[in-house]
Amino acid sequence: AAAPDPNIVPVPDWTKTLGVGVNNNPYGVPSKFEKDVVRREVEWLTASRESSVSFTPLYALDGVITPNGLCFVRHHGGEAEIDPDKYRFMIHGLVDKPLVFTLDDIKRMPGRVNRAYFLECAANSGMEWRGAQLNGCQFTHGMIHNVFYTGVPLRAFLDAAGVKTSAKWVLAEGADASVMTRSIPLHKALDDCLVAFAMNGEALRPEQGYPVRLVVPGWEGNMWVKWLRRLEVGDQPWAQREETAKYTDLLADGRSRRYTFIMDAKSVVTSPSPQAPLKHKGPNVLSGIAWSGRGTIKRVDVSLDGGRNWTTARIEGPAMPMAMTRFYLDFDWDGRELLVQSRAMDETGYVQPSKAELRKVRGENSIYHNNGIQTWLVHGNGETENVEVG
Ligand code: MTE
Ligand code: CO
Repeated sequence: AAAPDPNIVPVPDWTKTLGVGVNNNPYGVPSKFEKDVVRREVEWLTASRESSVSFTPLYALDGVITPNGLCFVRHHGGEAEIDPDKYRFMIHGLVDKPLVFTLDDIKRMPGRVNRAYFLECAANSGMEWRGAQLNGCQFTHGMIHNVFYTGVPLRAFLDAAGVKTSAKWVLAEGADASVMTRSIPLHKALDDCLVAFAMNGEALRPEQGYPVRLVVPGWEGNMWVKWLRRLEVGDQPWAQREETAKYTDLLADGRSRRYTFIMDAKSVVTSPSPQAPLKHKGPNVLSGIAWSGRGTIKRVDVSLDGGRNWTTARIEGPAMPMAMTRFYLDFDWDGRELLVQSRAMDETGYVQPSKAELRKVRGENSIYHNNGIQTWLVHGNGETENVEVG
């Protein structure tokens, strides 16, 4: 007979003594056993912590909502610490009546909504343009989060100010030291942008723009101005630094793609992945995420042999437009080497391209808008690494 399982037979410590009380942690934190599930940096990537990025630990997350404390952080001038009583949001330019709003004013606006959207930095997977580099989906794909925002449609503010008929663009400006500014077409501003003050039910986190950020569904993260302080209405784009020298995509022939706002359909297998290797032979659950800036994800296919054969994965949970979608593939692993890939399709019929297909059209100069198919090589011992297949 086998020895008795010591994790079943003796009464464990946690059953022998009373635990801590209900107010042990007035603002709860995760179990101490989950201490490795944190945002991480890539140290060589940026020269300073103030203009840098930390990555979402996608390999350890499930479902579709990113916990607030694990949402990747990207900013260009450090985190602004804004006193909500002194916070002001102003609209001016080509309007009938320039207006200034306090945070309370924003919360008193009619028409408040709740919407889940992904935010992906245009530079997500940017280090992978020239080949497989970073070993983990936290680093290759972790410049994304998916959050339930509470806010007021930007349209309500523009309507209150009265947009002049000559208006075609708006400029959103942040109150942080980088004074982040981006030009946004007026049609997008009037369509689905939000002035958001809450994420996943609580006030915005400081690093996500407390007390107010702009939400620009499906469009590149750089436009989602944090610590939003100003909206100017104009008749042409402003050609600010973050839409000319940066966030412009240099092609192989020396021309550049400009104002590439929409994030195309993309997906990644989060488990197995380099930080989440396979541990058991037999039944396993492959898991991943897919998203598209053009609408809902309609289908995700998974390959275990580097793209030769594809199986349609199971989309599970809400598949909302411009929001992260979760997929699973239940599979049996016999210890064989695997080349794991996923390929997303959205409601427009767009299919996520291979990296080779993408490079054919875009070259290798840019770091932005890399939505090519990711490959993970799973070795016989379960260890997994970032590779490319020809
Ligand atoms: N807004 C301000 N005010 N300052 C910034 O540096 N960075 C932008 C955008 N909004 C930035 C900003 C970039 S490049 C991205 S990808 C997103 O914020 C990141 O949002 P997050 O920090 O909530 O993940
Ligand atoms: Co960004």
